[in-house]
Amino acid sequence: MSTEKTTPDQRAFTPVTLDLGDVLLRPWGRLTELRGGPVAGLLAAAADPAIARWNPIRATDRAGAEAYLDRCDAGWAAGNAAAFAVVDAADGTLLGNSALRWVDRADGLAMVGYWMLPAARGRGLATRATLAVTRWGIATADTRRIEIAHAVGNDASCRVAERCGYPAEGTLRDSHHYGDGVYHDEHLHARLATDPEPPARSLG
Ligand SMILES: CC(C)(COP(=O)(O)OP(=O)(O)OC[C@H]1O[C@@H](n2cnc3c(N)ncnc32)[C@H](O)[C@@H]1OP(=O)(O)O)[C@@H](O)C(=O)NCCC(=O)NCCS
Repeated sequence: MSTEKTTPDQRAFTPVTLDLGDVLLRPWGRLTELRGGPVAGLLAAAADPAIARWNPIRATDRAGAEAYLDRCDAGWAAGNAAAFAVVDAADGTLLGNSALRWVDRADGLAMVGYWMLPAARGRGLATRATLAVTRWGIATADTRRIEIAHAVGNDASCRVAERCGYPAEGTLRDSHHYGDGVYHDEHLHARLATDPEPPARSLG
């Protein structure tokens, strides 16, 4: 059990590109380097039915996408939210998203979320990206506990959480209003900074 106090400034998320070799995690914002640009990337993501259902990103038109990117820039500037575009290192194509944000910065409690574009799914990318963001958050921002919540029945998200070393802790009833307009029960998963790394087959 840790009793040490950390100041909020030590818990600022500072913009950085995380290099996974074939994949780069680049901070989302107006200037994100992406093939076709960040607005087009977000519009493509928002048009995918599964992302619209489970990660409604309110970027269904250009103005909405620009507002989303402005919120990302503001989150980075405040050190409060670290949203990364998952990008193909070879050609700059957008693959997906993994984003960490403080729930309670003074307490070191954060939450991570993710989505992958349909063509990028099933290759282990959400797992690799979210593992990288988890490690970075723990190593650089003194994150104490990171949570993942997903709708019961979203088995792919459940597997990503498990593979990233976030065991399930329980079921939250009618806890979140998703993009389908319905409150869903959710599984809560969490990883503590003191938890062991997940098995080697998950390492990216
Ligand atoms: C959830 C999502 C991010 C997973 O991305 P991904 O890159 O395909 O995931 P990975 O390839 O890293 O797979 C991780 C695990 O999930 C499993 N998985 C993938 N799709 C699955 C599915 N439809 N049903 C069950 N398990 C699935 C994989 O087999 C793998 O588990 P394993 O290693 O035990 O075989 C992606 O499906 C997605 O973007 N879905 C729509 C948005 C969404 O649900 N976001 C999460 C909101 S909480």
